[in-house]
Amino acid sequence: MSIRQTNFDLKEEIRDYWSRRSQTFDLAFGHRIPRGPEFDAWQQPIRDHLGPTPLRVLELACGTGEVTALIHDLGHDVTALDFSEAMLSVAKAKHAGKDRLRFVLADAENPMEPDACYDAIICRHLVWTLTDPAKAFGEWHRVLKPGGTLLVFDGDWAKPTRLGRAAAWLIRRIDRFCGADRHYDGAMSERHSAIMSALPFGAGLRPDDLIPQLKQAGFVDFEISSHGPIAKAQRRGANLRNKLRTLVYRRFILVAKSAGASHGGEA
Ligand SMILES: C[S@@+](CC[C@H](N)C(=O)[O-])C[C@H]1O[C@@H](n2cnc3c(N)ncnc32)[C@H](O)[C@@H]1O
Repeated sequence: MSIRQTNFDLKEEIRDYWSRRSQTFDLAFGHRIPRGPEFDAWQQPIRDHLGPTPLRVLELACGTGEVTALIHDLGHDVTALDFSEAMLSVAKAKHAGKDRLRFVLADAENPMEPDACYDAIICRHLVWTLTDPAKAFGEWHRVLKPGGTLLVFDGDWAKPTRLGRAAAWLIRRIDRFCGADRHYDGAMSERHSAIMSALPFGAGLRPDDLIPQLKQAGFVDFEISSHGPIAKAQRRGANLRNKLRTLVYRRFILVAKSAGASHGGEA
């Protein structure tokens, strides 16, 4: 079913898509972050860029609360935001009773938080799905304190790398022999690609696309780190199909600082 056959707007489509996946999201490889080497590998860039002092962190698009655990366990004060009530309720159940943690139902493109109140913003796998990146980045700059840190985990989900095309071919062969993995994007992949084709980053998301837009919003001091150590940790103990999945797309970790003064990109 194409999204153009519904009367939902794009953002409603995205929210509905993730809400329907809320109960099985953690079952798909790469989403849940098991304790141990993989947890440590995801946590390392956060540790490196936020330092040891407890900070006020806004986590955007927290989903089922997997990244929330990484940040909270480091001792930070976390506000975890998502616009899907269904995803948020999984996260809330997972983290029930924790202090230093607040969940907010809101649009990450308009978080409605006060000006300059966060030391850091962290998001995993949100930027590719923004419908109005310029507005979102302006808002993120607004809610960050001057000198605050933006840490983005994301990837270019539109184009597999050369090695990734070979890996994807092998995954299709395994699917054919063993049956498709029903929790991986498969069941909804047609809908996923229909949504993707309508997104500003639908043709791909690379740091080179992102940095000029973030600069426009007032971010400076960009650093790109490799996702390699995380992928390596994910491959430990994974079956062949999931090992191959870590090779399909180019992922990146982008870190930037909020400049003191606005550079004119705010919504
Ligand atoms: C791929 S999931 C990632 C979840 C989580 N960040 C993780 O990595 O486990 C995408 C999440 O982004 C949320 N999302 C997408 N667009 C959003 C928006 N504009 N505002 C708030 N949440 C959004 C969805 O509801 C979903 O929970």
